[in-house]
Amino acid sequence: MALLTVNGRQYDVDVDPDTPLLWVLRDTLGLAGTKFGCGIAQCGACTVHIDGAAMRSCALPLRAIAGKSIVTIEGLASGGLLHRVQQAWIDHDVPQCGYCQSGMIMAVAALLKDQPRPTDAEIDAAITNICRCGTYQRIRAAIHAAANT
Ligand code: FES
Ligand code: FES
Repeated sequence: MALLTVNGRQYDVDVDPDTPLLWVLRDTLGLAGTKFGCGIAQCGACTVHIDGAAMRSCALPLRAIAGKSIVTIEGLASGGLLHRVQQAWIDHDVPQCGYCQSGMIMAVAALLKDQPRPTDAEIDAAITNICRCGTYQRIRAAIHAAANT
């Protein structure tokens, strides 16, 4: 058994400690907002926060995150209010198919915590998530908007 804290709630899960966190989130806990894209830590669709840092959950075995606090897209809003990144995404109509977007939002939320006013170069360096629909221009605009709220 492993004890996990996800979105402020504790779960006892009975899975092999080598299981990647993404599978535990989606298949064991039913938190399907975090997506599977590549499975090899390249695309960012599976990005969650581990102790506040953006990490790709498809490449994180459960044994590596014991005792850490996990936040998924389902836990990003708080007190009935959307996170400012979520609101900026809506205001700028960022998503197309939407598949990559929960990972994008989680990556951006972590970026803005560390760099409240990122430049375009800092955005390019930090947000390496892949969007097959090519929403990158709207993502950039939404990041700047969120940084100014
Ligand atoms: S599914 Fe994890 S990085 Fe692509
Ligand atoms: S919105 Fe479709 S992959 Fe990004």
